[in-house]
Amino acid sequence: MSLFITFEGPEGSGKSTQIGLLATALGEAQRVLVTREPGGTRIGNAIRSLVLDPAHTEMSPRAETLLFNAARAQIVDEIIRPALARGEIVLCDRYADSTLAYQGFGHGQPLGPLRQLAAYATAELTPDLTIFLDIDVVAGLARKRAGAVEEWNRMEEKALAFHENVRRGYLTLAEQSSRWLVIDATLPAATIHQQIMAQVHQRINQGADDEAGNGHYQQ
Ligand code: TYD
Repeated sequence: MSLFITFEGPEGSGKSTQIGLLATALGEAQRVLVTREPGGTRIGNAIRSLVLDPAHTEMSPRAETLLFNAARAQIVDEIIRPALARGEIVLCDRYADSTLAYQGFGHGQPLGPLRQLAAYATAELTPDLTIFLDIDVVAGLARKRAGAVEEWNRMEEKALAFHENVRRGYLTLAEQSSRWLVIDATLPAATIHQQIMAQVHQRINQGADDEAGNGHYQQ
């Protein structure tokens, strides 16, 4: 059964660790495709270099928003939809909610147009489950700083207030829809993994009950 799961979180929340653990666990029984935004395709990776380059200090928030959405349209058409159509489970590191959180709540771009843009870029493809790994902004950035220097990007260089707004944005979005699972990212990785597995199994069982298996076309 196809399932579209996205991971969201501020910097240093441990998304990639959890995606790896989930992919391994689910991969025993089913085909799992792991991808990320921005990126995941040749065009997406070219946009990724452009949009995250720390040298591009003059980039306008609207240009930034459109570039993230261009990469998104490409990954949806080229990778995500075909994988779901083949009945695979897709795990995506960031998706449309990142634009609402970063460009919307972070940069103060109006949410209405951003939502319309996301609907266009994704052709209305909404995740079945969105896992938000929540962590205090200072702790998250410190974790990220302790990692590889070359991973530091233009978004991470922004002021603390920006990242606080992003986190608040995520929490606001999570309150608005039942597709979100909010997890305390400071818990041990194994505990977080268990919580995610419990929720994923619930969604898989739900999907099997519905037999429609096309929940990812609805909010
Ligand atoms: P990345 O190196 O993938 O960081 P992370 O490990 O935190 O996911 O960088 C992606 C950066 O781009 C991250 O700072 C969040 C930002 N971003 C947006 O601002 N808007 C978006 O729509 C997306 C997908 C990412």
